[in-house]
Amino acid sequence: MSFPDTKYMGSKQAILPFIISHIRPLSFSSAMDAFSGSGCVAYAMKRLGKRVTANDFHRFAYHIAKTTVENNSITLSANILAMLLRRNPKSKTFVKDTFTGLYFKEEDCDFIDNTYANIRDLTNETHQSLALAALCRACMKKRPRGIFTFVGNKGRDGRRDLKISLKQQFLEAIPLFNQAVFSNHQRNKATCSDVFDLSPKGVDLVYIDPPYMSPHSDCDYTRRYHFIEGLCSYWKGLILQAHTVTKKIHSYPTAFKNTRTACDAFSRLFDHFKNCILVVSYGSNGIPGREEMVRLLRQFKKQVRVYETTHKYCFGNHHHKVGQNNNDVSEYLFIAV
Ligand SMILES: C[S@@+](CC[C@H](N)C(=O)[O-])C[C@H]1O[C@@H](n2cnc3c(N)ncnc32)[C@H](O)[C@@H]1O
Repeated sequence: MSFPDTKYMGSKQAILPFIISHIRPLSFSSAMDAFSGSGCVAYAMKRLGKRVTANDFHRFAYHIAKTTVENNSITLSANILAMLLRRNPKSKTFVKDTFTGLYFKEEDCDFIDNTYANIRDLTNETHQSLALAALCRACMKKRPRGIFTFVGNKGRDGRRDLKISLKQQFLEAIPLFNQAVFSNHQRNKATCSDVFDLSPKGVDLVYIDPPYMSPHSDCDYTRRYHFIEGLCSYWKGLILQAHTVTKKIHSYPTAFKNTRTACDAFSRLFDHFKNCILVVSYGSNGIPGREEMVRLLRQFKKQVRVYETTHKYCFGNHHHKVGQNNNDVSEYLFIAV
């Protein structure tokens, strides 16, 4: 089994061996990935045999985590896949009407509308999550850089991923999620909450990988991934900003978005999880910096260790100054016990 990784902004996939090598020796049996994103770190901790909770306040991240972390056994059979591909007379046309020509062609938008209607007809929640995770993955793979911050032909460089249909992407995504399903014989869980609403009870170790706050990037995940976030609920209860070129939704409020409030947000978070082992990923050009982060952790913990590795991010406008060619930054891992 292997994790269906993506180019998700800030994904730790490329430095997982570094992170896991420092987590593995620690003494813990339950772990929470409080900002799970792509889900790769929670999945790696599941592979260590731990009882894992994966949380993110975005629904698309929740469905990936429910499929790959919470789910120990359920896959999507060929029969269910055939049902997902059927024409559904109840299908609505919101995606076709709102987004045709922005991110995808009409036939791809129609495929998304119809597949969503079929997903709604599934009776098993895990089947629904697996199919939604695959549909979101298909949408991301068919976008230059996997994001929804621009429209038109920017970044369309003839790659296969951008050329093949949404349906083909979906057909390729389903087996990737199916083969990722395994049991570690633990009751794992996926949740979809603001981090401050999570209960720290029964959590031995919490892995904290929030958006990296920097004056050079807005680190707004909703702005980048609004299309797949909207799709997971078919925009129900979300406010679509119809006047915007990208037809994005309102970004979710988060304490981890603003460099002015950054230190206070970390301080409150460390206080919230003070009885857990705290493991924090952060970039060398983020705010707070290394010394300040150590100081904040020391408010609640006796011992703080800092490990460092270099990592090249694939995002040109993230974790470094816009316009700079050198996107080599250090990644810190703070472990406070
Ligand atoms: C750096 S990414 C995590 C990347 C992840 N570790 C991975 O390897 O893919 C930060 C995540 O925090 C989530 N997030 C931001 N603010 C949050 C909040 N207040 N509560 C819960 N999740 C939040 C974002 O949706 C985003 O997925």
